Amino acid sequence: MRPHINIYSKENFSAMHRAGKLAAMTLDFITPKVKVGCNTAEIDHICEKYIRDNNAIPAPLNYRGFPKATCISVNHVVCHGIPDETKILREGDIANIDITVILDGWYGDASRMYWVGEKIPIVAQRITSITYEAMMGGIKVAKPGNTLGDIGAAIQSIAEKQRMQVVRDFCGHGIGRSFHEAPNILHYGKKGEGLPLKVGMIFTIEPMINSGKAEVKILPDGWTAVTRDRKLSAQFEHTIGIVDGGCEIFTTSPKGWHQPPYPNE
Ligand code: MF3
Ligand code: CO
Ligand code: CO
Repeated sequence: MRPHINIYSKENFSAMHRAGKLAAMTLDFITPKVKVGCNTAEIDHICEKYIRDNNAIPAPLNYRGFPKATCISVNHVVCHGIPDETKILREGDIANIDITVILDGWYGDASRMYWVGEKIPIVAQRITSITYEAMMGGIKVAKPGNTLGDIGAAIQSIAEKQRMQVVRDFCGHGIGRSFHEAPNILHYGKKGEGLPLKVGMIFTIEPMINSGKAEVKILPDGWTAVTRDRKLSAQFEHTIGIVDGGCEIFTTSPKGWHQPPYPNE
């Protein structure tokens, strides 16, 4: 059975712009608060309060048993890091914060990398900017007439040119009035292959890129995905919608804080 792929209207796009903007505003709001010595549970609580104060619901909470409002994935954690009081951010750490909100029934899903402190190892800086460029390279080819394979191929080639590896075990996803829907968006692939993109499709692009090997494993908590070789991993995520001639990004930072280093304030 071929899964059904939703095509969304102009009005639906407006609702997704509102949900996506709130996810992006949450990522902006938390930026000055990601500091040496804070723990990931306090960051989670600040995000949850901000989301609820804006009349939305944090989608991860209780999703398939996930216990927290956000995912915070530090260093060799690839994704789905569970915020925890004992997980304290240290000088030179890199962290992904992944926010999904439900606003008026619509889902906005976005994540960014954050640098902790001032002394970020060069390899950590490199993997961050390569992952951002890989996501944006995928977004650039997300347009009617191109295929899902074009998106995957663009991301994969940007990563592999820099000797980084694309994680295969997780993918982007259709999104709208549900968190995860068809189609799956692979972050690797071949030009011209796969589903042709059509006006009205809405999905995420969220590549996870490893500085060592692509392999991941899941910790006994059933959620936390880590690199098998314990080398660094990075991820960025946008929610986008296909329009005539290209795509609209729903989760652009209102502050222009697209990737680190973010301004100090
Ligand atoms: N926000 C993640 C995504 O980009 C999904 C998190 S699922 C959770 O698809 F349960 F871990 F929250
Ligand atoms: Co997502
Ligand atoms: Co996400």
